[in-house]
Amino acid sequence: MRAEIDEGNFAMARMIRIFDTTLRDGEQSPGASMNLEEKLIVAKQLARLNVDIIEAGFAYSSPGDFEAIRRIAQEVEGPIICSLARARPEDVDRAWEALRGAPKIRIHTFISTSDIHLKHQFRLTRDQARERAVDMVQRARGYVEDVEFSPMDATRSDPKYLYEVLEAVITAGATTVNIPDTVGYAAPQEFGMLIRGIRENVPNIKQAVISVHCHNDLGVAVGNSLAAIVEGAGQVECTINGIGERAGNASLEEIVRGLRTRKDFYGADTQIQTEEILKSSRLVSNITGMVVQPNKAIVGANAFSHASGIHQDGLLKEKTTYEIMRPESIGLGKSTLVMGKLSGRHAFRQRLEELGYKMTDEELNKAFERFKRLADQKKEVYEEDLEVIISEELQTIPETYRLKSLHVESGTDTVPTAQIELEIDGKSSRQVGKGDGPVDAAYRTIAVMTETKSTLLTYVVKAITGGTDAQGEVMVKVEEGAKTVTGHGSDTDIIVASAKAYLNALNKLAYWKSRKDEKISYKEA
Ligand code: KIV
Ligand code: ZN
Repeated sequence: MRAEIDEGNFAMARMIRIFDTTLRDGEQSPGASMNLEEKLIVAKQLARLNVDIIEAGFAYSSPGDFEAIRRIAQEVEGPIICSLARARPEDVDRAWEALRGAPKIRIHTFISTSDIHLKHQFRLTRDQARERAVDMVQRARGYVEDVEFSPMDATRSDPKYLYEVLEAVITAGATTVNIPDTVGYAAPQEFGMLIRGIRENVPNIKQAVISVHCHNDLGVAVGNSLAAIVEGAGQVECTINGIGERAGNASLEEIVRGLRTRKDFYGADTQIQTEEILKSSRLVSNITGMVVQPNKAIVGANAFSHASGIHQDGLLKEKTTYEIMRPESIGLGKSTLVMGKLSGRHAFRQRLEELGYKMTDEELNKAFERFKRLADQKKEVYEEDLEVIISEELQTIPETYRLKSLHVESGTDTVPTAQIELEIDGKSSRQVGKGDGPVDAAYRTIAVMTETKSTLLTYVVKAITGGTDAQGEVMVKVEEGAKTVTGHGSDTDIIVASAKAYLNALNKLAYWKSRKDEKISYKEA
């Protein structure tokens, strides 16, 4: 075991493919649903992160997913774009329709192999399930060269039957076989042994890449994935910030940094541009409203802050005493001052391009206007401020409700009162209302004005950059009926940011209601 921080020399490392499923399994996290524009923004960032494969959605599940896969496949350059498909002809055909014409594509089809699932959910015999798997892999191969097959609930399947299914789908043309720990049940050593068993007992296994897909119900999704890599897995499926069904999926940043930091042990690495990790994490958190816990490995706010005096003393003397990776290696550096009030449109566009954002003229105009307003309120605009502007301005949810003005009165001896002017469907409307605090007064007044009956589930405020003139960013999670959405707002005034976040969520609810585009779950047999 070596102690120095060393990022170079990957000549001997085995390259592991990173299959990112933030937009498919990640999007299945309660409340994390993303609209088309948001998915495109995330997909473009995943391309900058240099993932190998993007699972962009499940084409058959909804017209929204279909369109997102289609646009991502057409517009995002670099990674292979993949659609999930149940082992049904209509699903495989729909995946193909969404992907056709794009340069690098994959169809990922799956069916359960555990007796629990086959008996209670799919109502199929083992032979029937194997036959369906083979037929659908062949059907997908009729469309594309690159076909992945997953035996769902593999870790609770009879290994002998699992080997048989894998052999059959590889013969049918599967180029990747993915082993999911669907319910997060496996232990790391056991999962490693399963991968070894597959290598030793599936005669044609060398004709396919072994992939793994681990859920985090027992907190070991990353440990399981790494154990599988040790035993020969060549692809890992993971998500940014580990979002996903229930307790989530294996976290991309932990796997990638784990391999890079301990390449002396794993002898493996990825092609991920690790300096893009933090930006990707913040983007996904902003868009989904899923806040990253401060002590989360790699991307948590505390991941690189050393509080104990002994640690600080050691660090000052020699960084390697307590630092096993450089903060810059995930893109965490000193906040860079990017622009000020006098910066012009040309410099703004150039700075955005340096940050990796290419925008149309219309998008740029919107973002520039917003930047100018911010630069008027705040002397210095940082990279993080620009990222928030971009992620908010690129979201094109129709604005049914728009904040025109807001005035609040609050303090130790007044009843908090909000006076609000909104534009609702193009018409101006004003109202005054009271509440338990300034935010409550604003939210109650907005609810009356918009005639909405939603419940506020989460309200989070954070400062985007330091200082008392920092932009405050508010994230809310709002529920109406069975639908949960997130809303974001940022402003140097946190009450204004709060009102914007709430209206953003109400706009999303209005949009969803107008589309009634309900998704079917990938687990519906
Ligand atoms: O968890 C799971 O089993 C899945 C499959 C569709 C790969 O997400
Ligand atoms: Zn999954």
